[in-house]
Amino acid sequence: MNVRTPNPDHDRLQQSAKDHLILHFSKQEIDDLMVLDRGEGPYVYDTHGAQYIDALSSLFCSQLGYSYGAEMAEAASQQLTQLAFNTSWGTAHPATIDLAEKVSSLAPADDYRVFFTGGGSESVESAWKMVREHFIAIGQPQRTKAIARDRAYHGVTLGALSFTGVQPFKEGFGTPPVSVTKVSNTNRFRQPDGHDDAAFCARLLAEVEDAVVAAGADEVALIIAEPVQNAGGCFTAPAGYWTGLRAIADKYGVLLMADEVITGFGRIGEWFASSREGVAPDLISVAKGLTSAYAPMGAVLVRERVIAPLVEHRKVFRHGITFGGHPLSAVMAAKSIEIIERDQVLENVRSQAGALGDRVKTLLDLPIVGDVRGAGFFWAMELVKDDDATRFDQAERDDLLRGFLPKRLRRAGLIARCDDRGDAVLQIAPPLISDAALLDDIVGRLHEVLTDAGVHMGV
Ligand SMILES: Cc1ncc(COP(=O)(O)O)c(C=O)c1O
Repeated sequence: MNVRTPNPDHDRLQQSAKDHLILHFSKQEIDDLMVLDRGEGPYVYDTHGAQYIDALSSLFCSQLGYSYGAEMAEAASQQLTQLAFNTSWGTAHPATIDLAEKVSSLAPADDYRVFFTGGGSESVESAWKMVREHFIAIGQPQRTKAIARDRAYHGVTLGALSFTGVQPFKEGFGTPPVSVTKVSNTNRFRQPDGHDDAAFCARLLAEVEDAVVAAGADEVALIIAEPVQNAGGCFTAPAGYWTGLRAIADKYGVLLMADEVITGFGRIGEWFASSREGVAPDLISVAKGLTSAYAPMGAVLVRERVIAPLVEHRKVFRHGITFGGHPLSAVMAAKSIEIIERDQVLENVRSQAGALGDRVKTLLDLPIVGDVRGAGFFWAMELVKDDDATRFDQAERDDLLRGFLPKRLRRAGLIARCDDRGDAVLQIAPPLISDAALLDDIVGRLHEVLTDAGVHMGV
């Protein structure tokens, strides 16, 4: 493993983190917490001085990797000296106006407006409020329900949690404010019709339509789904699925939303994965890759017909976030988009994605790898006990996903994601600037790690 000079503050930082910092989605005391203090290209370094390939792009965010700081800083510095901040509450500034125009120009249709937020959960909640305001304005206030998919993650703030289908995150936080019916996601693995796109798609769409009708077709406001679902491990949709969702939504007067918090801004080689699916959803939520994580920002793209009733009736959109559309984040997002265009980053993903998929699929030769799925620079390996794709039980998953793999990945100098939604999944989402040699290196390291995981689990 490539090693740099350790941070002389290492021990103090470990202790101080234990004493003062609350970690997200983590046990609060971790022995040898990974503290990252440098980034360069697709690599990050911890305070031991160890180098890692960030094969997860800082949780699906760092589209550009870590070497554009100087360019970003120049844009930030200009904005900070000109106007550090003002809100989007009844006023605006050039940075967000220009960004809204740019983002709209990249969207799957030419009639989107943009509402800026601070991140993904805020985008999902803001979208829901927009949906409600729409139906109130057009005289259908009874549309209060939504359809979402099993195991999908749409955020964990209390509103967004309504749509999230990961049960352990919901327990103990009360009845969600939105009544949501869960339908099957697009996981083909273990499904008898999973290899027959047409049959699989027809079955899934029939389930969605049945769910709309069962909930009361005139009470349903929204169908929400990710183009490639993250939770559970990179479930791609069968051909025709999104056009089918669009048709169901239109038939029953329901709005369709694509949650593109992960898939937006290049992860699968398009600005918006919805474009690849051939649909223009009524709403699209984004965050993460919008700024390539050089600053926090999210957004909701809303089609004209959704917002038009509010505009026509001169209604106030009763929702706002003080820092939503912060000009600093807006110039970072604009700069990130400019760099993605200039350096042909989407072209890089498109040209490498097929080979990456082929390379990852070679891992299927390992007995512990039961399935490999994904698209673009977004792939998952499902880990299984045997040739019959038997699932690891909870104790085994704890050992594998929370014990063995994190340590072994660290030793391999690789950051990847161990995901446990009942199935044991390992995911990668490399920075979109990764070249063929780096992608090979990632898969090579995965091969070593998963070989050892198989031995460890006795597979
Ligand atoms: C699809 C999707 N929606 C929403 C969210 C919530 O985003 P945030 O963590 O920025 O609130 C996430 C986070 O991973 C996500 O993957």
